[in-house]
Amino acid sequence: MGLTQDPNFQKLQDWYTAHALNLNIRHMFEADKERFNKLSLTLKTEDGDILLDYSKNLITDEVMKMLVDLAKSRGIEAAREKMFKGDKINFTEVLHILFEVSNHGDDSLNPVNSYDDDLYLMQRVRSGEWKGYTGKAITDVVNVGIGGSDLGPLMVTEALKPYSKDGPRVWFVSNIDGTHIAKTLAQLNAETTLFIVASKTFTTQETITNAESAKAWFLEHAKDKAAVAKHFVALSTNGPKVKDFGIDTENMFEFWDWVGGRFSLWSAIGMSIALHIGFDNFEKLLSGAHWMDNHFRTAPLDKNAPVLLALLGIWYINFFHAETHAMLPYDQYMHRFTAYFQQGDMESNGKYITNHGARVNYHTGPIVWGEPGTNGQHAFYQLIHQGTRMVPSDFLIPAQSQHPIRDNLHHKILLANFLAQTEALMKGKTTEEARKELEASGLSGEALEKILPHKVIIFFVAILIILSYFIAMYEHKIFIQGVMWEINSFDQWGVELGKQLAKKIEPELKDAAEVHSHDSSTNGLINFLKKNFA
Ligand code: F6P
Repeated sequence: MGLTQDPNFQKLQDWYTAHALNLNIRHMFEADKERFNKLSLTLKTEDGDILLDYSKNLITDEVMKMLVDLAKSRGIEAAREKMFKGDKINFTEVLHILFEVSNHGDDSLNPVNSYDDDLYLMQRVRSGEWKGYTGKAITDVVNVGIGGSDLGPLMVTEALKPYSKDGPRVWFVSNIDGTHIAKTLAQLNAETTLFIVASKTFTTQETITNAESAKAWFLEHAKDKAAVAKHFVALSTNGPKVKDFGIDTENMFEFWDWVGGRFSLWSAIGMSIALHIGFDNFEKLLSGAHWMDNHFRTAPLDKNAPVLLALLGIWYINFFHAETHAMLPYDQYMHRFTAYFQQGDMESNGKYITNHGARVNYHTGPIVWGEPGTNGQHAFYQLIHQGTRMVPSDFLIPAQSQHPIRDNLHHKILLANFLAQTEALMKGKTTEEARKELEASGLSGEALEKILPHKVIIFFVAILIILSYFIAMYEHKIFIQGVMWEINSFDQWGVELGKQLAKKIEPELKDAAEVHSHDSSTNGLINFLKKNFA
């Protein structure tokens, strides 16, 4: 039975048709003094409490109950168990965040054993024992990778900068635009730089080209091919390709085919994170994710953070037809968090073909976007407040600041803005309140009527403290939604087409001859570029 034929889906649809337009959050808060207590969840973790407040959403107790029933009838519990047992749940890649969170779970399920090698390398680099070709210790590490082999490590090293004491500086090169590698190399010393070539497949054009350019730059300085072994290591699943590139497989840190790129930061791909923050801190990261895994596995669905997030998404996407989802961290260190989950969510659930090969008749993954607050407030919040689209939004903020400067003044202002925005978005203004304010500011007549009425909607506030907990939480959310939409969250055939076409076009740029092999627009663009290339 497809999602929309499910009686629990139809029940929700009927409820939506009968009541959704009359939902008024203000009234719901006024009518039920217990609303916050009922629709929020405090997770008591070893590292502090995480408060997930979803009471500011367009939901009632009844809706939540119906959504949980839908999750049950879509087989969430069985799918979750299958994942935790390590069953092959997909026909291409298999997610296994769980298994990546090594050393904490059931060892029989846990093939992650190469951490020992990673640990050894990491310790040698951090302690200065690993020496470059002139005998100097490593001061800079460059992660060359893209997509999941870049975004996760980049996001986490940025977020955990306060924990980077004693580690080498870490750089990230991803873009094939030569600017990225050229500007990075210009700041480095070949004698003290270690390149980590991170690519699951070791065939990704951008990564291999950037790595080759890094090697050419390095050899210009070292002038000795034998020195490459001291300055290049690989994180990959593809031994033969690593060897072809010229990296000794002794210096290759392996992970497994079933580790999807966008979930790979827990595996060897997280090497740059471990180098930056040290293995003790990396282990803390792993155990935070493991805590969330356990919570996801054992908590009842209506008290289960990833499940609740997933169900709210289903409610907005499949009933209100919301198109986007904003992720708004109020934390400068988390400035790449949304970019990371853009891949996590959109590459996982941006699909229209079900596991059975049929075309879906409902929407799947949302367009994920956002920027840290308060910057976003001065850019796009206007549309969230008063635009014509519904924008479900997750607000995230740490209760404590890493930099409580000026008697915590900055953090208090940050918190005040966070709370004010979430309250304002929830309440909006009644037409009467808005009218009074506008009249007081001197507006009247047609000009005033044009601005009325204010409207507003949705979203929940999640005040979260610990990074790894919520990386795992959102990973599980994505998994649940994929199960409910019956799509394979772990492949990404769509992006492959662009890669194939790029391979066809690249040789066509080699000479000045006019190209006619594409549609007229692509031909026109190629021929314009050829004329202006030099
Ligand atoms: O093009 C998409 C993709 O395959 C992502 O899924 C992946 O994270 C990225 O490319 C990089 O892949 P690799 O680690 O194999 O270089």
